Order: sequence, then C-alpha cells, then structure tokens
Amino acid sequence: MEEVEWWEMESAKDLADQVAGDISFVIESAIEAHGNARIALAGGETPLPVYEALVKQDGIEWDKVTVIPTDDRLVGFADPASNAGKLARLFAVKGAKIVPLGEETDDYRAAGREADARLGELEWPLDLVLLGMGADGHTASIFPGPDFEAAIAGPRERRAVGVRPDPMPASAPYDRVTLTAAALKEARAIMIVIAGDEKKAVLEQAIEQGPLATAPVGRLLSQVEAAVDIFWMP
Ligand code: 6PG
Repeated sequence: MEEVEWWEMESAKDLADQVAGDISFVIESAIEAHGNARIALAGGETPLPVYEALVKQDGIEWDKVTVIPTDDRLVGFADPASNAGKLARLFAVKGAKIVPLGEETDDYRAAGREADARLGELEWPLDLVLLGMGADGHTASIFPGPDFEAAIAGPRERRAVGVRPDPMPASAPYDRVTLTAAALKEARAIMIVIAGDEKKAVLEQAIEQGPLATAPVGRLLSQVEAAVDIFWMP
C-alpha cells in the first residue's frame, strides 16, 4: 500500500463538504484525462451526507459519470435497503449512469456472475472507490463466510462475486454482490469514510496488521496500490 492519510473532520457537515469537494475534483480530472469518470460508491448511512453535498457541486458533467455501488444487498431496486436504488435516486436524476449489481434472487452466486459480466462491459480501472466500514471491519460486502476468499483473493479478472455473510450482519441480513478486492484495489483514488472512535480503532489495527488482518478491510488495504485518504469524525 502506498500510504494512508487520515483527515479528522470536526462535524458531519465538514466531512460531507470536504469529501464531496474531493470527489468532484477526481471526477473532473478523470473526465479531462480520459473523457469519462468511473466511480464506485459505498452503501450504508455514513456517506449519505457526502452524496447529498456531491449532487449540489457545480460543474460536474454527470452524463459522463458512471456510478457503481461498491456492493449491494440482493433486494428489489425500490427496497430502501438497495444501494443501487439509493444511488439512482441521487445521481441518475443528475444524468449519471448507474450500474446495478443485482436484485432479489435465490441464487446469489449466479447474481455475482451476472454482475461480473455486466462490469466486464465497462472501462477499467475505476477512477475512485469510496468505502465505508462496519464495526466488524467489513468493507463493501467483503464479509467472513463461505465467499470471503473469492471476494478478497480471487482471480484478478473477477470483478464481482456473490456473498452470503456468515454471520449475517443484524443491520442488513441479506445475500449480496460485492466488488472484489481485485476490482477495488486498482482504483486510481481510494477514500474511506467512517465515524466514531470504535471504527477508528478497528481500522487502525486492520491497517497495522496488513495481509494478516482478520478484518476484511485490512486484507483489502494491504493489496491497494494507490494512496488512501481516510476521512474520520468523532
Ligand atoms: C453496505 C455498505 C457497507 C457499509 C458499512 C458501513 O452495503 O452496507 O457498502 O460496506 O459501508 O456497512 O455502513 P455505515 O456507514 O452505515 O456504518
């Protein structure tokens, strides 16, 4: 991993404004460099104020932006638990293209294969990955369980896999599709947005442990090639 930089923000608003501004810069730079911007954005609650600030940024050519959830729960697109649905309500209305990873199904691994085929039609690498992290150290939907190794250490060409967390997270007990470490680690810019002392301690320890980390985020970051900016608020 190149380097990790921590940015401590005083409030949710400061964090939202700072990260939205940084994302806007990444998008504009990508469009200038290669005519479009491919960004993967986390689900969950913490980044929502960032996304709400981002849609208010002036000057972004949203019709040249492709937004991919870093992961999604396999629920209906209109379900409040759907990350793609949430991102569409924010960014599709601005003109961005949203690439969903899957919906309700009883075969989550097939959903992972279908998402992988869909992602294969895009240009890579990503220009930006914005991640959250659970208190258990999961990120995207890279969770302990039968699909963990496929997600964290699978073949380089596999960009999405189906995941059945074990144990299931109480807050969102769903089968999922996640971008793999192979897809995430090559992004040109990586940002992590977390809140609270507990998560800060988990993330610091995961970074320290690196490839031997038990927390998925530690295993991922140990493979990352770009600099990582971590935005944290108490
Ligand atoms: C998801 C996210 C997930 C999220 C963490 C943290 O689909 O839930 O992609 O990885 O980032 O669970 O969520 P909070 O920011 O809500 O704590």
